[in-house]
Amino acid sequence: MNYKLPAIIQGGMGAGVSGWRLARAVSQTGQLGVVSGTALDVILARRLQLGDPDGHVLRALELFPISGVAERILDRYYVPGGKSKDEPFRVKPMSSLESSRMVDDLLVAGNFVEVFLAKEGHQGQVGINYLEKIQLPTLASLYGAMLAGVDWVLMGAGIPKSVPGILDQLAEGQPVELKMNVFGAEAEDQFVSRFEPQVFSQGQVSKLARPKFAAIVAAATLASMLLKRSNGRIDGFIVEGPTAGGHNAPPRGKTQLNEAGEPIYGERDLAKAEAFRKLGLPFWLAGSYGTPERVLEAVDAGAAGVQVGTAFAYCEESDLVDEIKNRVLQATATDQVRVFTDPVASPAGFPFKVVQLENTLSEKAIYDERLRVCDLGYLRHAYRKENGGLGWRCPAEPVDEYLRKGGREEDTCGRKCICNALLGNIGLEQVQKDGSHERFLVTSGDDACGLWRFLKPGSLRYSAADVVDYLLSPLTAREIAAKPALAFDGPLD
Ligand SMILES: Cc1cc2nc3c(=O)[nH]c(=O)nc-3n(C[C@H](O)[C@H](O)[C@H](O)COP(=O)(O)O)c2cc1C
Repeated sequence: MNYKLPAIIQGGMGAGVSGWRLARAVSQTGQLGVVSGTALDVILARRLQLGDPDGHVLRALELFPISGVAERILDRYYVPGGKSKDEPFRVKPMSSLESSRMVDDLLVAGNFVEVFLAKEGHQGQVGINYLEKIQLPTLASLYGAMLAGVDWVLMGAGIPKSVPGILDQLAEGQPVELKMNVFGAEAEDQFVSRFEPQVFSQGQVSKLARPKFAAIVAAATLASMLLKRSNGRIDGFIVEGPTAGGHNAPPRGKTQLNEAGEPIYGERDLAKAEAFRKLGLPFWLAGSYGTPERVLEAVDAGAAGVQVGTAFAYCEESDLVDEIKNRVLQATATDQVRVFTDPVASPAGFPFKVVQLENTLSEKAIYDERLRVCDLGYLRHAYRKENGGLGWRCPAEPVDEYLRKGGREEDTCGRKCICNALLGNIGLEQVQKDGSHERFLVTSGDDACGLWRFLKPGSLRYSAADVVDYLLSPLTAREIAAKPALAFDGPLD
């Protein structure tokens, strides 16, 4: 069987911005739709507490292939008719190294549901995107996505050198482990997370298809190191530049800030397509590639195509709440969008692009009003405790707790709880103990300033298919079809 490489990859956008609706709509155009794999456990639990009004989640759970899992999740989280607006969501247990049945159930089923729904009713390919930095949920998440037949796994924000081999092992039903990055760990320490497919599935599932794997990188040196050191097959690279939405790789060398306080990127930070061509694998360019001219430019440089995020984030099928879409699209129509590359906001430690929007957490005064709390914990850092055990801390958690765990006060300054804010952006915000609702913090690439190009007079709506049609305008599509560089078609395992 052959597969055709997509010219357009709709980038994975967390948390939940590229949900199954968006990925499905893109896949149906013949391009690669990608769901975000971040926080799908809590997204599943919260959608069920809102009563799953359209019944899609319930339908997918009914088809979950391992008995008992869906029943346990529904027992604990399903609220027929939905919770009231001011009632808090039930707190989900955080992941830890010791696996817990409910944590694994939610991770496996959450990833299954998202991919299953994105793939339902058509033949297009669907990918899932993870951040390497978020390690604890990775193994169970990959398994859940593979149970639903995910076609591609894309991973950035780190060095995912052991993931290709993990995909091979999961496909064979073998137990897998992932070494944790632990601050202060000593040579003899063994901090690993484990997942055993046969135990989880009680022998009900044996072999699965091995998805293709693409690493998201900012530099060819990292790509080349991954090719040498990874423990399994890599099928391509996404090359992401510093104007892309979400997290960005820091500038090379010592970070310097401009007057506004943003990291300064230079020529050295722009990856060279030439270096990627030499690696011999398909690659896609990302970061402000959302126009037909830029698509052609990428293809001319030898890329298989482009990965685009921001343009898809504001289309009808994305799961950003309408209020955010409308406000940003209205502002883009009058040229008033400003995107700030915040060097410290994200606890992940990478620069993070933030759309400056009144009354959201982009404003310091609004953030300072927020009750500092860490109850989701995806971006916590692992550290070695004095007694040799494993501890977890987040620089956005209450400062005294962070200090008690040995963290440094300066690391807490300007940090924002992205986990809670991003869930708010997709309408799943928590109601905290003081009765406050978590607020928005919106990320987008610099391309947010040009979104007016998708708007028709009198309307703030456009679809994922509009974006694909625009990017592959007839001229572009014809030229792409004629490019020998795109003859990367290869056998599917
Ligand atoms: C709202 C939003 C969320 C994103 N979240 C992620 C993410 O969770 N993981 C990731 O690898 N990339 C993420 N990205 C980056 C996109 O996948 C894509 O590479 C990028 O948006 C491409 O650049 P562009 O924004 O200029 O189109 C995000 C982008 C946006 C706009």
